[in-house]
Amino acid sequence: MPFKNNAPQTIILVGLMGAGKTSTGRLLASYLDIPFVDADAEIERAAGYTVSEIFERFGEKAFRDGEVKVIKRLLEGEPKVIATGGGAFMNESLRNDIKSKALSIWLRSDIDTLFDRVIRTNHRPLLQKENPKEVLEKLMQERYPIYEQADIIVDSLHNNVDKIAKDTLNKIEEFLSRN
Ligand code: S3P
Repeated sequence: MPFKNNAPQTIILVGLMGAGKTSTGRLLASYLDIPFVDADAEIERAAGYTVSEIFERFGEKAFRDGEVKVIKRLLEGEPKVIATGGGAFMNESLRNDIKSKALSIWLRSDIDTLFDRVIRTNHRPLLQKENPKEVLEKLMQERYPIYEQADIIVDSLHNNVDKIAKDTLNKIEEFLSRN
């Protein structure tokens, strides 16, 4: 269990759609023996709608408001691993909360890896466009300079989730020994 100032830490994964936040987060939590929570699943549970339905019925702004509320709540309480949706860390107020209450990890990937992972799925409303690769590229330009503010950066450039989870554990240890 990672400790900073002798206090158990919540770990929060940020990064673009397809970065592997959910699969890596689940494995990381099992290695650390702490709970895992997927923020999108939690939003869906709270709203009683899927993310796509929320976008469709209420619009992106309503989704973003719900996302901030749900993740702020998840940051309280027992230490856990949280996988966020790709847009969450872009909200300044939420980002500040994350920085003060958790250890943030950016799962960094490249366009081909991301595209390869998301192309076979249809549950991401932002990518239900004519040119999803272009959308991803634009989001990379907007978001990578912000994701960079995470405490730790781990590369997610292949599909060996176990290796990515172990790389993440090593980076956490390294970070905590320095801070
Ligand atoms: C979004 C990412 C999605 C989900 C929503 C919006 C984004 O989560 O929150 O579709 O803005 O990047 P994943 O990153 O888990 O796919």
